[in-house]
Amino acid sequence: MKSYQVDLGDRSYPIHIGPCLSDQSLLQATLSQHEILIVTNDTIAPLYLERIMAPLRASGKKIAAVILPDGEQYKDLATLNRIFDELLAQNFSRKVVLVALGGGVVGDMTGFAAASYQRGVDFVQIPTTLLAQVDSSVGGKTGVNHALGKNMIGAFKQPLAVFIDPSTLLTLPKNEFAAGFAEVIKHGVIQGADYFAMLETRLTQIFALDMAALTDVISGSCAIKAHVVAQDETEQGLRAILNFGHTFGHAIETTMGYGRWLHGEAVGVGMVMATDMSRRLGLIEPQLAQRIVDLVEQAGLPIRVPEQMTVASFMTAIDRDKKVDAGTLRLVLVRALGDGFLTADFDPALLKDTLASFCRG
Ligand code: NAD
Ligand code: GLY
Repeated sequence: MKSYQVDLGDRSYPIHIGPCLSDQSLLQATLSQHEILIVTNDTIAPLYLERIMAPLRASGKKIAAVILPDGEQYKDLATLNRIFDELLAQNFSRKVVLVALGGGVVGDMTGFAAASYQRGVDFVQIPTTLLAQVDSSVGGKTGVNHALGKNMIGAFKQPLAVFIDPSTLLTLPKNEFAAGFAEVIKHGVIQGADYFAMLETRLTQIFALDMAALTDVISGSCAIKAHVVAQDETEQGLRAILNFGHTFGHAIETTMGYGRWLHGEAVGVGMVMATDMSRRLGLIEPQLAQRIVDLVEQAGLPIRVPEQMTVASFMTAIDRDKKVDAGTLRLVLVRALGDGFLTADFDPALLKDTLASFCRG
């Protein structure tokens, strides 16, 4: 088992990477003082719930599980309420720890429930998708979607610990694996030139689910994310670079309807668009832009936007982002491999050029 620390003062916590499902000693120790509610969904429950629950139940603790419907379209307030229903129906006290067993949807919802149940209780992440293992389980962003915007209702809430077992990726559908890989590429582009080169070299092993390669990918991404979050927990500045590709990606997700395009797929093409803008601005050479596009494409991610997307639909979604950011549109661009940065300093006409080059109308 490898362990890394997210350094956040009294909110610091470990990320354990290794055979967490077969060796549950650290998990048991972390949960020892708590009542436990496991939150998962109806796809993951048959695969992993009993493996986590049985040893905890055997230790005589108060424990229950809530199984949510699977899907980004259920990452909403109505479904979140099911967690509160269970907590209250079973009289869970403030000593409860919520255990998120699943991908980013389960993790974001469980974290938000933990942030708000009785004004805040503990939670633990057991991420089971690549996206959740390399990104969403670390850093404490939690929340749900609103019909008018993604992740618009939420809170910062750091977990007590993160337990990552890469072997759970063996049951993950291939398109979900590729979607998670979008966030991996993102980390390389914005903060890890050597990491990016490692991904290019070991792509075949990674997609063959070689456990050693996967462990290196997950460790590398967690290290980059932990480093960024430790400097800017609540996204006052630097942390925004983790949104590389996300302005365009969120526009696609919101316009298409949640669950139609996977988050990682939308981020994949979103990164291609942000790369295109960086090239148009003369920040990077065409050769580097091509390397980024090639890795996105080799990962099986889309490099073109859905046919239904138009310049106008992008601008509507982007304007909403702008309102959220007090009227200024900031984008994450790249000025060298491993050097992503947030900027409002660009000619809006170039944004329109990028959008027009990706859209039919
Ligand atoms: P997801 O949670 O919907 O999981 C993807 C699919 O895989 C689901 O059908 C799920 O049931 C299934 N699944 C999960 N683990 C499995 C396994 N081991 N075997 C078989 N099937 C499995 O999607 P995701 O890509 O993990 O997460 C996307 C969400 O994460 C989005 O809502 C996004 O906004 C959020 N996100 C949050 C952060 C953050 O910092 N909090 C960062 C990035 C993304
Ligand atoms: N995924 C973006 C962030 O955690 O800040």
